[in-house]
Amino acid sequence: MQGFDVDAIRKDFPILSKPVNGKMLAYLDNAATSQKPLAVIDGIKYFYENLNANPMRSIHSLAEKATVAYTEAREKIAKFINASPDEIVFVRNSTEAINLVSMSLEFNRGDRIATTYLEHHSNILPWMRLKDAGVDVDIVDVDENFDLDLEYYKELKENTKLVTVSHESNVSGTINDVKIISRLAHEAGALAFVDAAQSVPHMKVDVKNLGADFLCFSGHKMLGPLGIGVLYISRDVQYGMMPFLLGGEMIRSVKLDKVEYQDVPAVFEAGTQNVEGAYGLGLAVDYLNQIGMQNIEAYEKSLTNHLYKAAEEVYGLSVYSGRSRNRGTIFSFNLKSLHPHDVAYLLDKEGIAIRSGFHCAQPFVEDKLHVEGTARASLYFYNTKSEIDRFIKSLTDINTTYG
Ligand SMILES: Cc1ncc(COP(=O)(O)O)c(C=O)c1O
Repeated sequence: MQGFDVDAIRKDFPILSKPVNGKMLAYLDNAATSQKPLAVIDGIKYFYENLNANPMRSIHSLAEKATVAYTEAREKIAKFINASPDEIVFVRNSTEAINLVSMSLEFNRGDRIATTYLEHHSNILPWMRLKDAGVDVDIVDVDENFDLDLEYYKELKENTKLVTVSHESNVSGTINDVKIISRLAHEAGALAFVDAAQSVPHMKVDVKNLGADFLCFSGHKMLGPLGIGVLYISRDVQYGMMPFLLGGEMIRSVKLDKVEYQDVPAVFEAGTQNVEGAYGLGLAVDYLNQIGMQNIEAYEKSLTNHLYKAAEEVYGLSVYSGRSRNRGTIFSFNLKSLHPHDVAYLLDKEGIAIRSGFHCAQPFVEDKLHVEGTARASLYFYNTKSEIDRFIKSLTDINTTYG
């Protein structure tokens, strides 16, 4: 972890030094959204003070600056995941990316889609909707450690058109073998979609190495602004995809009897683009690159190990995450028979922010964890061991008072 200085990093995030409920904030809700560094906050102000215009349309100088800002952001983000700029579509978030693919690929009656038990609702519902059109949807099962059943992928059913899987689960923290799953999908003639909403912020993701045809992530979970996300579409599968939003700047020519669409990415970015968001996400990527994704991954690993070790000392804790051989920074739990919302409320009084509920993964939480919700702490590289110690101490205190 060369040059990794968490105290210096924390100074870049103004919100981290603002008290909450009279206590120092310990922000442990990073799987929901990340905090933003000054480089992004100030950069957005700079954008509106210096670069703002409608891009890709007007030819005046300011519009040219906005176009350059948007184009350069796409280039940076492409490089970040080892893609080409013409494989990067800007969307609102991972949810929109998945919906876009579900509506833009052609699915016919009798086609099959395989999603999994570990998915966020956004990687289940858009596919389930296709059932109405006669598409079969399989839900790949998990074992007792919440690892996916790889045997399913080794014997993919003949009519499987698409396999979709999260890189990292937002509840169990399982990091799935998406490279192997993509290879097995391709061997069976299917396409592979990876929901990387929980992985791209935390580790080096190389789309060429993973081999997926589609991959998505949300800017707001990786220091970027809200309302900007990325859908990677490999050049190999772009041909024939139909836009699901129609309108300005996604066409080459419009005659009233014939329309010609642009290529990817423009064809999927109808209407005025979120230039502020793309620009801000580009700055977030600069910031992450400056820290180094390998440094981030190594630091977060030591932080996560510290958390799991410390949690062993808390009486009455049921831990649902981290059982897989390959785990991320998610820590899902319940404390005795307390409702997770009560645990989150009591921690909030101590300035500790976590999430509670189904985490938009109700089938997994109900069918596999057999509970009505969990509490969840999730880490990022600006968290510290002392914040984790505060969190653990607060759980112990809650135990003493309410257990
Ligand atoms: C694994 C996973 N996929 C998709 C999403 C949806 O992300 P967004 O709400 O940014 O669209 C989330 C959000 O938590 C997630 O954790």
